[in-house]
Amino acid sequence: MYDINEHLPEIYDQLETRSDDVDFLCELLKKMKSPRILEPFCGNGRILFPLIKKGYQVTGIDLSSEMLDHLRNKIKRYEDSLLDNVQLINADVLKTDWPNQFDLVVLGGNCMYELATLDEQQIVIEKAFHALKTGGLVFIDNDNMEGLLDESWCKIGVEEKIFPSGECPHGVKMQGYCKPIWVDRENRLWKAQRRIEVEYPDGKKDEISYVQQKHPVSASEIKKWLEDTGLEILAVYAGTKNKKKFTEGAKRATFLAGKI
Ligand SMILES: C[S@@+](CC[C@H](N)C(=O)[O-])C[C@H]1O[C@@H](n2cnc3c(N)ncnc32)[C@H](O)[C@@H]1O
Repeated sequence: MYDINEHLPEIYDQLETRSDDVDFLCELLKKMKSPRILEPFCGNGRILFPLIKKGYQVTGIDLSSEMLDHLRNKIKRYEDSLLDNVQLINADVLKTDWPNQFDLVVLGGNCMYELATLDEQQIVIEKAFHALKTGGLVFIDNDNMEGLLDESWCKIGVEEKIFPSGECPHGVKMQGYCKPIWVDRENRLWKAQRRIEVEYPDGKKDEISYVQQKHPVSASEIKKWLEDTGLEILAVYAGTKNKKKFTEGAKRATFLAGKI
């Protein structure tokens, strides 16, 4: 979806401004010596960009060439030489071999919600395991939905306004809509008709539509996949904001696990 319009990364930057997870990672990285970092689903660098600004070497993988181009331009505008700290791979994380020997793999920003099924989500955790060197860490940070698919996701046929919505600096306007068309509450699967209206400064209008499937992930699923893969869970927090310990029912689950 992130490739459907070249202006979408600008709207993403306007709407996704949280940095508590970046602060959390910076604290963690202070304890590592010259860490090599991998960020699959890096997008246009909400997490990656501040890390390279601090001098860390980061490899990012993302399916969207628009998001990666936007990131490259942001880096160039800030300081050309910082491009030496980054390697960007334009690929589907499920279909490509990830590079390896990393000290930290970052699976942040709800990236599990980008995938359609449990199987795909489990594959990502297995790939993270193989990408780590012994002693390396994986960081996984997602909303947490245990049990049945939440009722708020089950409004079949009701179209609501959703990301991306906003206006770019040069006047392109965008409004996203989402209409659930199918759910399997027990298996927590959801399919929706998504559409995005685009209006250009010259009045020209465009509409893009597509069907998207999601599997809102639970903390217990992530815990099981980590354990099955051989990653040792070192800590679980209820999000990165105040590092509160995870307890059942928490809205967010942030895992730190190690390849011991
Ligand atoms: C919500 S953005 C997250 C970006 C960033 N990690 C953050 O926290 O702001 C999700 C990104 O995942 C990418 N993505 C989705 N599915 C992917 C896949 N199968 N392989 C690689 N990237 C994918 C999208 O292109 C998008 O840039």
